[in-house]
Amino acid sequence: MSDRIHSLSGYIYEYQKSVQAPEQFWARIADGFHWQKPYEKVLSWNFEKPDVKWFEGGQLNITENILDRHLYTRGDQAAIIWEPNDPNEQNLILTYRELHAEVCRFANAMKAQGIEKGDRVIIYMPMVPEAAVAMLACARVGAVHSVVFAGFSASALSDRIIDCQAKMVLTADGNFRGKKSIPVKALVDEALEKCDSITSVITLKRTGEEVNMQAGRDYWWHEVIEGVSSEHKAEVMDAEDMLFILYTSGSTGKPKGVVHTCGGYMVYTYYSFKNVFQYNQGDVYWCTADIGWITGHSYIVYGPLLAGATSIMFEGVPTFPDPGRFWAICEKYKVNQFYTAPTAIRALQAYGTDPIAPYNLSSLKVLGTVGEPINEEAWHWYHDHVGKGKCPIVDTWWQTETGGIMISPLAGVTPTKPAYATMPLPGIQLAVLDNEGQELKGNSVEGNLCIKFPWPSMLRTTYGDHERCKQTYFSSFPGYYFTGDGVKRDEDGYYRILGRVDDVINVSGHRMGTAEVENAINEHPKVIESAVVGYPHEIKGQGIFAYVICDLEGRSEESLTQEIKDTVTKIIGPIAKPDRLLIVSGLPKTRSGKIMRRILRKIASGEGDHLGDISTLLNPEVVTSIQEAVHASKA
Ligand code: WTA
Repeated sequence: MSDRIHSLSGYIYEYQKSVQAPEQFWARIADGFHWQKPYEKVLSWNFEKPDVKWFEGGQLNITENILDRHLYTRGDQAAIIWEPNDPNEQNLILTYRELHAEVCRFANAMKAQGIEKGDRVIIYMPMVPEAAVAMLACARVGAVHSVVFAGFSASALSDRIIDCQAKMVLTADGNFRGKKSIPVKALVDEALEKCDSITSVITLKRTGEEVNMQAGRDYWWHEVIEGVSSEHKAEVMDAEDMLFILYTSGSTGKPKGVVHTCGGYMVYTYYSFKNVFQYNQGDVYWCTADIGWITGHSYIVYGPLLAGATSIMFEGVPTFPDPGRFWAICEKYKVNQFYTAPTAIRALQAYGTDPIAPYNLSSLKVLGTVGEPINEEAWHWYHDHVGKGKCPIVDTWWQTETGGIMISPLAGVTPTKPAYATMPLPGIQLAVLDNEGQELKGNSVEGNLCIKFPWPSMLRTTYGDHERCKQTYFSSFPGYYFTGDGVKRDEDGYYRILGRVDDVINVSGHRMGTAEVENAINEHPKVIESAVVGYPHEIKGQGIFAYVICDLEGRSEESLTQEIKDTVTKIIGPIAKPDRLLIVSGLPKTRSGKIMRRILRKIASGEGDHLGDISTLLNPEVVTSIQEAVHASKA
């Protein structure tokens, strides 16, 4: 398929075509795929309901386009290169032919366990190739996967299982992370105490630690695939059938299950992968994300494999056995496109350039970033020291809900600007709105980032609660999809993402709802009330700052602080643990009783001397006492 844009004028031309005649534009890309039955209608949409359908009437199986289609053209090419946590352990390379066989075998094994089209299957696994096999095997049999990041707690896992009424869990005994090994199956056991929808659990042996196996429910991965056929006829799916659910945090309530469907997601992840990274046949591509996040779904598994790429999966962490690990892997596999998060760049930057020096990085052609705004200093460090000044940086802005990259340079095609995501991809019609919902036209404007026309990989609903999808994304500005991000369009028409404008914070590229963290804190019996805000953090981008009112009777502040942090780890996972937790006597409130987060954010960011007028507060005296507590805690 010749879907790649090669020049800036080509980009401008394609972009115009995609806006003038979106249906023809996307039909051309879609027609490069294998459809079991051709679609009848490219697009129907209504952002009020919202109701969006792409490629209606079309039937396909995404794995036929990933596996079967590539068997004869690149059966012996590496599809997945797996690099283990410990560099001394044997790596694993799965060719397209081998991946096809593994996926079919596991698909048959899942069928034998009673999994059918439409069933939900939870994948709670470390970064091992079997995790990708699990995702694709679900897609093969038409089951809806929901991958849960293996760093989430048992309680977060059970919430997700209950929400989507999953039937099966695919997991591993444990997870190697640097020097540590973390139990995984034990957490599944704990989660399942609260869930009754699960009929079977399949566990991969990875770390070899002891696990409990419950007869009639628990099976070993290697046992269920023993002697099973590696041929499987893919289930026929409608283009708008669900492909997966991925839970993500928002400003209110529990995480929502974002729903993606088969046809549009396939077309868009393929197209965006090829164009943003300018992938050429034979290149080796590496995205360091975890499959627990959307980046792992779209740009480790689906996008690259649809494009017939070689995709690296890395089990470990950037600093083990030393902070040169990323560069050692780039050298080892002669990586051409490297895609990571700003937080990882900043963490490595702290070690200086010595860890890079021993490695030959001359294979690198493209560097990417994702997940949070990249600061200019990190951008330059990445550009100069990793890319040696010769690799374009693609700063890719997108979201779990968008399914694929929305704003980004196309590598080597779009001129870059540090810290700018630059321009929308073809097909992506952006709008900058002021708080009254007026669209700000022209350049040099700042406002709320919205999207005014559907794109193939957009979310269709939030699982089990369509109204919530409408409220969250389509109601703030009727007729638009609202991203929750602030944006600036500069004098050249370039976009720079300014960060969230809602109560979502971005910690090391992970989305965290402040309400979610507050709810977890409030589970501690001694907590009376809490408020959580983000504050600038040198490595993580944003840190979590919690202000907590407690019943201190008979307790020390120190022990309570630790206990509350542990409660959050237990309820959500270590990624949600507050970086700073301050026990306070009150929280600043408006006369109507609303917590004034603006003030708490300023104090947390060290701007407590510039609070503006606080005299309208219900309890202005509280502010002074909080400021004193902050000073005391720093001292
Ligand atoms: C933020 C990750 C600035 C943004 C793919 C968005 C970014 C949220 C960028 C989505 C970027 C992502 N520059 N901010 N290049 N990429 N974000 O759902 O606030 O985990 O709304 O998807 O991350 O996070 P999510």
